[in-house]
Amino acid sequence: MKQLYITTPRLIIRNLKVSDLPDFYIYRSNPDIARYQGFETLSTEQANNFIKEHTNKTFGKPGEWVQYGLEYKETGKIVGDTAIKTDAQNYEIAEIGITISHLEQKKGYAKEAFTGILNFLFKTTSVIEIKETVDADNIASINLLKSLGFIQHGPIVENVYFKGKWGSEVHFVLHKEKWISKE
Ligand SMILES: CC(C)(COP(=O)(O)OP(=O)(O)OC[C@H]1O[C@@H](n2cnc3c(N)ncnc32)[C@H](O)[C@@H]1OP(=O)(O)O)[C@@H](O)C(=O)NCCC(=O)NCCS
Repeated sequence: MKQLYITTPRLIIRNLKVSDLPDFYIYRSNPDIARYQGFETLSTEQANNFIKEHTNKTFGKPGEWVQYGLEYKETGKIVGDTAIKTDAQNYEIAEIGITISHLEQKKGYAKEAFTGILNFLFKTTSVIEIKETVDADNIASINLLKSLGFIQHGPIVENVYFKGKWGSEVHFVLHKEKWISKE
């Protein structure tokens, strides 16, 4: 299995590096960034350990999340990170997570990174379906997925106890045929 390396017009999607720490920590220590995510804010030490844990991972081990940096080509600095997991039981299903730094949002980076990842998964791997679960209050994420053509199911009301209160989730799916037919 190889390390992931995807290029888009402005970004390189590649394994996190220890030198990403200052830029990674700026947004991973921000409570607003963690609000709708499965993770909590990180200390510098936790951020460093997290990066080291993911630096050498390869793509495609079923059931394993691997976190990648979104490097802005012009500066070599990361603007955010993404994670991809292929399903542990069904290698045709994958899930993608994404976080863009609060300093870099609304510049089209999430959409660009997702587009690169969807092209990679649907055109070069056996994945035929992407499944996403999003907090019903996470409007930015919902709009991102809708703008990429994901189909919305839900919201499913108050189905999850999350960060100290009942929350509602929206499920999204995108199938390979729909993505390929957009071209
Ligand atoms: C969700 C997130 C990744 C979007 O990143 P981004 O780089 O700002 O998004 P983009 O600039 O690529 O925008 C993509 C689409 O979403 C829309 N969008 C982005 N942020 C939005 C916001 N705050 N409110 C409403 N719409 C928003 C854009 O208008 C765009 O739609 P369009 O293509 O129809 O014009 C970013 O807000 C983020 O990291 N949030 C915190 C972490 C998080 O919650 N991640 C998702 C977990 S499932």
